[in-house]
Amino acid sequence: MRLNAVETLLMNNPIRAAIQRRFEAARLLAMGGRMDGGRALEVGCGRGVGVELILDLFGACEVDAFDLDPRMVERARDRVRRRKEAIRLWIGDATAIAVPDARYDAVFDFGIIHHVPDWRAALREIHRVLRPGGRLYAEEVFERLIADPLWRRLLEHPQQDRFDAARFEEGLREAGFRVVATRSLWDRFGWFVADREAA
Ligand SMILES: C[S@@+](CC[C@H](N)C(=O)[O-])C[C@H]1O[C@@H](n2cnc3c(N)ncnc32)[C@H](O)[C@@H]1O
Repeated sequence: MRLNAVETLLMNNPIRAAIQRRFEAARLLAMGGRMDGGRALEVGCGRGVGVELILDLFGACEVDAFDLDPRMVERARDRVRRRKEAIRLWIGDATAIAVPDARYDAVFDFGIIHHVPDWRAALREIHRVLRPGGRLYAEEVFERLIADPLWRRLLEHPQQDRFDAARFEEGLREAGFRVVATRSLWDRFGWFVADREAA
């Protein structure tokens, strides 16, 4: 589901970028470590700050990224235009990722899977495109916040079949992941590192 006008503003500003860099990505890095080379995918890349973090902080040497919203992909393109690394951006859907199986060493989700009505299908797709032994780094928003009346008034999210930490972990396991580390904050935000089992 695309962002409404309020969330578009919340996502596209320097404060959001600083939170993503200093808090969200830093926590995933502490939990899951660097990649140090390799090919990564970001699902729901928004305006492209995550692509920079995956290169600079996590050490990927190649990043693919897509978003459902063409305007976000345009913003991401502008943002990474001068980068020298191999970066490929496209418009796409996390429930049908247009790449062959086992392509990536790591997949990154900075807060997008809670936007996907069939979030379990997105986890299955992420599992499919990871190589055996590859790693998912996910930062997510839980049902408790999505169902909050003020939050609902301001923002637009799918409301059916949302998840808390336990249900997201269960979804990861059902998709075939081994959960390596989890953290949560106020029962509203969660961080997950999970591996596709090695063959
Ligand atoms: C909360 S924003 C996060 C954007 C970015 N990851 C960030 O951290 O700034 C969620 C993003 O997911 C995208 N999105 C929603 N549903 C999607 C789907 N099914 N497939 C890919 N992207 C999706 C939205 O267009 C939006 O850019």
